[in-house]
Amino acid sequence: MSDIIVSGMRPTGALHIGHYVGVLKNWIEYQNTHECFYFVADWHAVTSNYDNLAIVHAARKEYVRGWVAAGIDPNKAHIYNQSSIPEVLFLNQIFLSLTPPGWADRSPSWKDLKTNPSKKLDNLGFYNYPILQTADVAIVNGKFVPVGEDQVAHLEIGREIIRKFNRLYKTQLPEPVAKLTAVPKLLGIDGSKMSSSLGNVISLNESVKSLQKKVNKMKTDDLRGGVEKPGNPDNCSVFSYHKIFSSQEAINDVNQSCRGAQLSCGECKQNLGKFMQEELMPISEKMGKITDDQCEDILTQGNRVVGEKAKALWQELKIQIKL
Ligand code: TRP
Ligand code: SF4
Repeated sequence: MSDIIVSGMRPTGALHIGHYVGVLKNWIEYQNTHECFYFVADWHAVTSNYDNLAIVHAARKEYVRGWVAAGIDPNKAHIYNQSSIPEVLFLNQIFLSLTPPGWADRSPSWKDLKTNPSKKLDNLGFYNYPILQTADVAIVNGKFVPVGEDQVAHLEIGREIIRKFNRLYKTQLPEPVAKLTAVPKLLGIDGSKMSSSLGNVISLNESVKSLQKKVNKMKTDDLRGGVEKPGNPDNCSVFSYHKIFSSQEAINDVNQSCRGAQLSCGECKQNLGKFMQEELMPISEKMGKITDDQCEDILTQGNRVVGEKAKALWQELKIQIKL
């Protein structure tokens, strides 16, 4: 029955082009066809940034600014802040009682801690990630969740929690379903995962100059021994960016002339920079024009509307579960 879309982003630093191509473009599509709930996942950010919440505080507005500049329309989609909806945590608390630790242990991000120990993430808040995420979706009756591949396992845990909840309390909350992005993940300029904490991001509000400077720094096919030698675009992040930002003609051209040793990496990066500018500068300019007050107003309005919905659903659920 329900085909509500829900998705969130953790405000942990700059909004970057990885968010844009991997998530935001999808969000923009859905706002025309579905009722959409897009939120700043600040509680999720707290689990890794509890020792510096100023970052989360600043990123909250910055994310809304970037979302709107990129094309999310607050008159079409609900834009709100997770921690402004207390019912999310009420539902989270019940879900905790329905979740054996073994389910949470299966979360890949938690398992990852065993191989990559991080003192910062070694806390129950982070352990609770998949459960809280399930509450995020359920509290607005959400069904489809546009996320990246890395979130699929979390949603599987969510489906089990919701199934158990529905069985126990005779409710009909939709089981969440991932809507995967077709675009492959963008790597950072150093060739590793794009992440604010690694300092390898291209943010959504670069200037023409800083954008080109970052493109120039990007890792290329490091086996290519100079302009006169053929390169392999398949080993080159610059080419993977071309595939996302450049015209089909330019992509074919780079592919051929790189392999044929007719294109220098410098020139190739200049070309890429031009295509990226075309797409990103309008967003960057819009970001410069959206004021803090406008961001606040958008959040206030969204928090109010979603707050009412969440409250109503919680009242219903409370009766049903006999709490
Ligand atoms: N886990 C998501 C991410 O890291 C953010 C998120 C939190 C989310 N709660 C969610 C996404 C609920 C979709 C639905 O990107
Ligand atoms: Fe990469 Fe372009 Fe250099 Fe080829 S020419 S290695 S695609 S930067």
